[in-house]
Amino acid sequence: EEQRGNLGSEFVEAEYAEGVPDASCMKGATFRDFIILRELGRGLCGTVYLAKYRLTDQLVAFKVMRKQKLIDVGEVRHAVREREVHAMMNNGPFIDKLLHSYQDKWALYLVLEYAPCGDLFQAMNYHGLPTLQDAKIYTAQCALAIDYIHQCGYVYRDLKPENVLLGANGCVRLADFGMAKKLETADDRAYTICGTAQYMSPEVLTHRGCRFEADFWALGVLIYELCTGTTPFGGDKDSRQELYRRLLHHRNDTMTFPTWFNAETCSIVKSFLHEDESKRLDANQSFDHPWFASVSSMDVLSGAQAPVL
Ligand code: ADE
Repeated sequence: EEQRGNLGSEFVEAEYAEGVPDASCMKGATFRDFIILRELGRGLCGTVYLAKYRLTDQLVAFKVMRKQKLIDVGEVRHAVREREVHAMMNNGPFIDKLLHSYQDKWALYLVLEYAPCGDLFQAMNYHGLPTLQDAKIYTAQCALAIDYIHQCGYVYRDLKPENVLLGANGCVRLADFGMAKKLETADDRAYTICGTAQYMSPEVLTHRGCRFEADFWALGVLIYELCTGTTPFGGDKDSRQELYRRLLHHRNDTMTFPTWFNAETCSIVKSFLHEDESKRLDANQSFDHPWFASVSSMDVLSGAQAPVL
C-alpha cells in the first residue's frame, strides 16, 4: 500500500470533483455508507459490485477503479473522462444514471443506477435471441440514447450488447462512458482506434477518424447480432485480420444475409452498415424506416419488451 503515496496530483489535476448534480441524497457518501453485496462484473480497470445504500436501502451498482491499476494500465484519462461525460449525460433517455461519485487515496468510485436485468449480452446467452419486436424496441431505445449523447456533442464509441444494460422495467440503460469523446467543431474527428473490433466502423479502422456516424454503424452491427446471435463481420473465433479484411471489403449493396432474414431487417441493417458515412442512416431517419413501423413510440418509451429476469 505504501507505494501509492503520491498518486494524488494526477487525479487532483483531473478535477475529479465530488458529487453529481441531481443526486443530492448521496452527497458526501463514502464507502461506509454502502453495504457491498456481491460482484456484478469485472473489467480492465475496475470492478462493479451490487451494493445497498444504507440510508435508503436503495440498491446501486458500485464501481471501484483502483488508482494504481488505472496508472498501470494507462487508463487514468478514460476513467476521469467516464465520470465527467456520464455526469453530463445523466438526464438523457435510456441512459444508466450516475448517482454519486467520489475518490479517496486509493480509488475512484462511481455509484451507478443498478440495472437488475443484466445486459443484452447476458440476456442473449441466457434466454436466446429476443423476438423481432423486442429487438426493434431495444434498438429504438439505444438509438434515442445515442442521439441524446450526440446532441450533447459526444461520440459514444462503445456500443455493444455488454454496454446495453436492462433496467427493472426491461428498458435499456446505456452504460460505460469511458470511450466517449467530445467533438469540438463541425469537422472535428476522433482518431484513436478504440472500441470493440466487431463493432468498429471502416473509417475508424482505416484511421480516417470517427464522427457521430460511427455509433450508427455499431447500431447496425447490434441489430444484426440481436437478430442472428453473431456479428456480421466475424465473431470471437475469427482472427482479427480476417475481421479487418472483411470490414475493408464490405460494400453495403453486396452485403449478404441468412436466407431466413426478414427483408426489412436486411434493409435497415444495410442502411446503418454503409461504408460511406455520409450515406449512413442516423437515428431520426431510422425511425421513418419501415422496420420500425410495427413499433409505436409508446412501446419504446414505456418499454413494452418482454421482461428478461
Ligand atoms: N454492471 C456494470 N454496471 C452495472 C449496473 N449499473 N447495473 C448492473 N450491473 C452492472
